Amino acid sequence: MVIVMAADATPWDIQAIVELVEAAGGEAFVSRGVSRIIIGLVGDVDQFATLNLRGMPGVRNVVRISAKYKLVSREHHSERSTVRVAGVPIGPRTVTLIAGPCAVETLDQTLAAARMAQAAGATLLRGGAYKPRTSPYAFQGLGERGLRILAEVREETGLPVVTEVVGAHDVETVASYADMLQVGTRNMQNFALLQAVGEAGRPVLLKRGMNATIEEWLMAAEYIAQRGNLDIVLCERGIRTFEPSTRNTLDISAVPVVQRLSHLPVIVDPSHSGGRRDLVLPLSRAAVVAGADGVIVDVHPHPEIALCDGPQALVHEDLEELARSVTELTAFMGRRQP
Ligand code: E4P
Ligand code: PEP
Repeated sequence: MVIVMAADATPWDIQAIVELVEAAGGEAFVSRGVSRIIIGLVGDVDQFATLNLRGMPGVRNVVRISAKYKLVSREHHSERSTVRVAGVPIGPRTVTLIAGPCAVETLDQTLAAARMAQAAGATLLRGGAYKPRTSPYAFQGLGERGLRILAEVREETGLPVVTEVVGAHDVETVASYADMLQVGTRNMQNFALLQAVGEAGRPVLLKRGMNATIEEWLMAAEYIAQRGNLDIVLCERGIRTFEPSTRNTLDISAVPVVQRLSHLPVIVDPSHSGGRRDLVLPLSRAAVVAGADGVIVDVHPHPEIALCDGPQALVHEDLEELARSVTELTAFMGRRQP
């Protein structure tokens, strides 16, 4: 059961509901998004029905949710949500381009990639300082030094920063530099990490686990929402299939499927799904036309010497072509770029 609070609900209204539900033996989780506050109830739904919650001050609606995920479900929120990252919208009216290096390597490399991104119209900068690598011998990222580089590049360019956090113990540090916290495919079911980012006070980009069903992905989002944070953007980044020609298989149908099930915005990562530079443009086009709320791509000034994922990084000309195409298709879809 979910209680949707009215826009003018006061903290006392919220507190009164939490206390009432707890007194009835239930639990109440308050989640805050850009435009609304909702309270998820856990416990005996029939018992809650006797509490006259609908009549409490500040309550707009009380909804019984049939899906397993409650707070992120579209059942209580027919309009799709917009999440704002340092003012940049990601939501149903826009198509947001996020670009940057896969990994932060040096200040010069990150600044060059950020300038490429900005020239192409990207409004958010991506870049990993903590890299989740298959091999313990592969480049693991610069850690906090990488975060400082990202902060410096943000200072230079004005682009807000999206960066990955790979362990719950690093959330506070990463959140102190980042505008948006990314949880990667390998950590989609790292529940301690999901709960920690839910409490970090930053919007979260939650990538789909490469082996996860859509329901599992939404349940992972629910962990974040349950800790109070509704500013979650989902990212389809390809799943493992039997097909070896691409790194992963982009599940393009996940975009409209998720948009029906959840009010959260959904973007697509064509770089990590395809794993190949030549596929980034066609997959981005497919994403925008399928209704994605944004696209996140890897760029690098010199992919041939990149320390991570060089083969999928776009160079200047590729990025320009991609930007042109995204702009045209955004207009075709009746949307705008932020
Ligand atoms: C990229 O951002 C990931 O860290 C990378 O794709 C991991 O893949 P790999 O370690 O198998 O190269
Ligand atoms: C990334 O975007 O840097 C990344 C590691 O992606 P994924 O988790 O999708 O592999």
